[in-house]
Amino acid sequence: MAASHFQFFLFLVLVTLATLIVIPTTHAKLSPTYYNKVCPKALTTIKSVVQRAIARERRIGASLLRLHFHDCFVNGCDASVLLDDTPSFVGEKTSFPNNNSLRGFDVVDEIKAAVDKACKRPVVSCADILAVAARDSVAILGGQKYWYQVLLGRRDARNASWDAANNNLPPPFFNFTQLLGLFQGHGLNLKDLVVLSGAHTIGATQCAVFRDRIYNDTNIDPTFASNLRSICPQTGGDDTNLAPLDSTPNRFDTVFYTSLLYKKGLLHSDQELFKGNGSASDKLVQLYSRNSNAFAADFGPSVIKMGNIKPLTGINGEIRSSCRKVNNS
Ligand code: HEM
Ligand SMILES: *[C@@H]1O[C@H](CO)[C@@H](O)[C@H](O)[C@H]1NC(C)=O
Ligand SMILES: *[C@@H]1O[C@H](CO)[C@@H](O)[C@H](O)[C@H]1NC(C)=O
Ligand SMILES: *[C@@H]1O[C@H](CO)[C@@H](O)[C@H](O)[C@H]1NC(C)=O
Ligand SMILES: *[C@@H]1O[C@H](CO)[C@@H](O)[C@H](O)[C@H]1NC(C)=O
Ligand SMILES: *[C@@H]1O[C@H](CO)[C@@H](O)[C@H](O)[C@H]1NC(C)=O
Repeated sequence: MAASHFQFFLFLVLVTLATLIVIPTTHAKLSPTYYNKVCPKALTTIKSVVQRAIARERRIGASLLRLHFHDCFVNGCDASVLLDDTPSFVGEKTSFPNNNSLRGFDVVDEIKAAVDKACKRPVVSCADILAVAARDSVAILGGQKYWYQVLLGRRDARNASWDAANNNLPPPFFNFTQLLGLFQGHGLNLKDLVVLSGAHTIGATQCAVFRDRIYNDTNIDPTFASNLRSICPQTGGDDTNLAPLDSTPNRFDTVFYTSLLYKKGLLHSDQELFKGNGSASDKLVQLYSRNSNAFAADFGPSVIKMGNIKPLTGINGEIRSSCRKVNNS
């Protein structure tokens, strides 16, 4: 009896050890201190380039945040979004959601050059650069209360997929059910959908994207719609004319949510988050519109969750030398 108890005890010890050893290597987790030893200057270097870029043009902060989102939703946060087309694959840059719309690639190149110089060799992945640049943009445009700790240690993909970009990014004409379904497919929930859509508190969108909403939607403030119609005619070649996503596009704040209460969401998909019938989504929009601390407390955790989508770690992927192309190509 005593011997079999001991054997069972030994078995438990072995199972525990095996779990401790195997799980971290197969599900290698991201860590906030990943670059502390190998390149202690990495994060401050990224931040200073982001700061300079935003000083040149405030909107670039929004563009950098969107890049991280469009990276993570398409085969995970692996910098696939940054790859130029090659003879062997058509990349994500020309997919419908991204073509003539994504911006900030030149700033990413600038960050990459600065960080490789500071670290004296390429040790920081392009996927991590996107995650850090997104966080820094939010904290610069919103203030310290929107700062959150970024998890690091992602590696970069060696290919990209035009089809995956078309199939995994939400279009602005989606209804609430469709938006939620797509987010759930990425392991995100209703709260994440409402919180992450709050990113539309900064940046701008093109006439071609919001034309249907301002001419055809009924859940829109008439004065708001009519003002927008002057910069976005129903027909004609003004598809790229820009309008701000909320009335304070250079400030990361809660005005986006307040706009939804007044049917002043610019994207059809944004207004889908608030219908005014007391849904769970409505309640979150109301909460964030009146409580910026609640929004600030929830934004970081939801971005971190998004940043954990299928990262390449360990021996998978690589640390690119140029964010635009895979190594040895
Ligand atoms: C919920 C579904 C979403 C839809 C349907 C959507 C769609 C769009 C569209 C159509 C634009 C304008 C593109 C253009 O006119 O060129 C845009 C801009 C933007 N999106 Fe989203 N988006 C969504 C969620 C998100 C999320 C989760 C984030 C980040 C966490 C984000 C960040 C941004 C930012 C910052 C901009 C402005 C970019 C700039 O000014 O360069 N979006 N989005
Ligand atoms: C992307 O935009 C360019 C114009 O800048 C256009 O020529 C090209 O056909 C577009 N690609 C796709 C796949 O829509
Ligand atoms: C990317 O690589 C994976 C694994 O090698 C492969 O299955 C997939 O088809 C590749 N995708 C593209 C677009 O080349
Ligand atoms: C949302 O769109 C889907 C697909 O077009 C449609 O089947 C569904 O009925 C729509 N849901 C609502 C609530 O309008
Ligand atoms: C609005 O709806 C009408 C009728 O369905 C359609 O013909 C038109 O293309 C839509 N978009 C705009 C911008 O008017
Ligand atoms: C609110 O309205 C939407 C459609 O407009 C519907 O799908 C949803 O179930 C409604 N929610 C409540 C709580 O009535």
